Amino acid sequence: MLKTHHCGELRAEHVGQAVTLAGWVNRQRDHGGLVFIDLRDRSGIVQVVADPARSPQAHEVASRARQEYVLQVRGTVRRRPEGLVNPQIPTGEIEVLADEVVILNPAKTPPFYIYEDAPVDEALRLRYRYLDLRRQRMQRNLILRHRVVKYIRDFLDARGFLEIETPILFKSTPEGARDYLVPSRIHPGKFYALPQSPQQLKQLLMVAGFERYFQIARCFRDEDLRGDRQPEFTQLDLEMSFVEREDVMALVEELMIGIVEECSERRLATKPFPRLTYAEAMDRYGTDKPDLRFGMELVEISDLVAESGFRIFRQTVASGGQVKGIRVPGCATYSRRQIDELTELAKKEGAAGLAWLALTEGGKVRSSFAKFLSEGETERILDRMGAEPGDLLLFVADQPPTVAAALSALRLELGERLGLRDPEVLAFCWIVDFPLFEWNEEENRWDPSHHLFTAPMPEDLPLLDTDPGAARGQQYDLVCNGEEIAGGSIRIHQREVQEKVFGLIGLDLEEARERFGHMLEAFEYGTPPHGGIASGIDRLVMLLAGETSIREVMAFPKTGQAVDLMANAPSPVEPEQLEELHLRIVLPDEEE
Ligand code: AMO
Repeated sequence: MLKTHHCGELRAEHVGQAVTLAGWVNRQRDHGGLVFIDLRDRSGIVQVVADPARSPQAHEVASRARQEYVLQVRGTVRRRPEGLVNPQIPTGEIEVLADEVVILNPAKTPPFYIYEDAPVDEALRLRYRYLDLRRQRMQRNLILRHRVVKYIRDFLDARGFLEIETPILFKSTPEGARDYLVPSRIHPGKFYALPQSPQQLKQLLMVAGFERYFQIARCFRDEDLRGDRQPEFTQLDLEMSFVEREDVMALVEELMIGIVEECSERRLATKPFPRLTYAEAMDRYGTDKPDLRFGMELVEISDLVAESGFRIFRQTVASGGQVKGIRVPGCATYSRRQIDELTELAKKEGAAGLAWLALTEGGKVRSSFAKFLSEGETERILDRMGAEPGDLLLFVADQPPTVAAALSALRLELGERLGLRDPEVLAFCWIVDFPLFEWNEEENRWDPSHHLFTAPMPEDLPLLDTDPGAARGQQYDLVCNGEEIAGGSIRIHQREVQEKVFGLIGLDLEEARERFGHMLEAFEYGTPPHGGIASGIDRLVMLLAGETSIREVMAFPKTGQAVDLMANAPSPVEPEQLEELHLRIVLPDEEE
């Protein structure tokens, strides 16, 4: 080894010891007589002093060293002089007096500072990701990620799970996104699809008798990207045989509690995790991934305003819509401009407008609609909303999905503004009893709300024939702080039920056999009842690290445009490569 110790591990107990260190120059300061170097490696930073009286060689080399040079330093640990102790860093009590400094490699001036946590343009960070990753915050995030994955592996190994790899070159495994395709050179005109998840393969491993499988699996989805989505991401994917919904949920809950308590510094809001049905979550929070760090629940007032003098409320209720509101504490003093801003937000979610009512500290009502109501009606609304002086009440009247979307967006925005979304707290919850299908207006057919292998609730099985929209699936989502962290289900293990589901989603048997024949066939050879779940590791680590984008916990992520700015991918290929793959490129027209 070119070093005897790591920079960050040196403490007062090492005083007097001869050490050899190797690392990067975090900062160099030339104080005329003495040169100070903060030397950095993965473990942290230590101060090196080059004193010409001690070693002219060390002093001469240290004075030439610049930011990010790679150095090897031989020296002796000594206590820092009185008054120069730095309690901010773990090595702050000591320094290393250099006897010899060797430049292992010089460095160009980096495009941004590595040693401070100042904001840097993300495109620049991604272009020079290897430098960005040198920064303390990124090192911390990736170390955390390693710990979490190691915890998962140990936890599952101790419970009899086997880690089994499944192919990346496979056949379309739909999870609701577009596939990434890989052309076959050997089979002209044919393609592999990269798996959107190992879903089919893990089910086949259950047919194969492994009973408990897991994988830290890379998944590929060609979908519109956001802060919490990447074209390739990592799942903890697992599947179990001879289990019911409760078994999978209990296992994952224990795992998540362990991860938070052992690997992170965040606090769990509650354990055991609360459970909400899909219907309840939509009703109370307007979303199936509620942020439970704060209340501000949606309250329905449709019954109170069905006959009211405010036409929009009355007509909405009459036409089968609803009126719901949220109570925002302490915002009664909001100006017209501030309320207009909130109205814009509601409109972005499809609402026609936003009705508001402010109850001043003095108990007076200011409102966009109260003048159309009788005093009794206003009183009943204030009462239903639990309004207190100083509150701002916001109402949306529309069809239920629009009301949910608008109020959920307002709730998150105001929760954020009021500081109710404590980044130190992790509020997990389970969402259960999802509808099995969603109606696809465009295609005029049912779409699976999870995926097409999810089993219906046993008591809802007859509904597949009579009222598919009312059938619930045996599925469960794990949500944390408003992010979907995991999703899974008990699977269909009988061929007849699977074929019925294919029928409902508009897959005729011919097509189903073409795409999933291997599954249908396997199901005829003795399939155990089974179920599983997959958790987005990137999203989980993002929350554990207190970050707001999964890019911050991935070593080499892509941009929102699915581009790798460092390697410049995707990129054109040589004409010969296309020829070998039997492909011809037809570029879209410029005008289109
Ligand atoms: P699902 O599609 O719900 O389920 O995915 C499981 C979890 O993976 C994460 N996730 C993503 N993370 C980052 N970028 C993306 N583009 C992305 N898409 C999904 C989320 C999500 O909860 N095969 C099923 C699981 C099962 O039924 O066992 C599946 O993949 O955290």
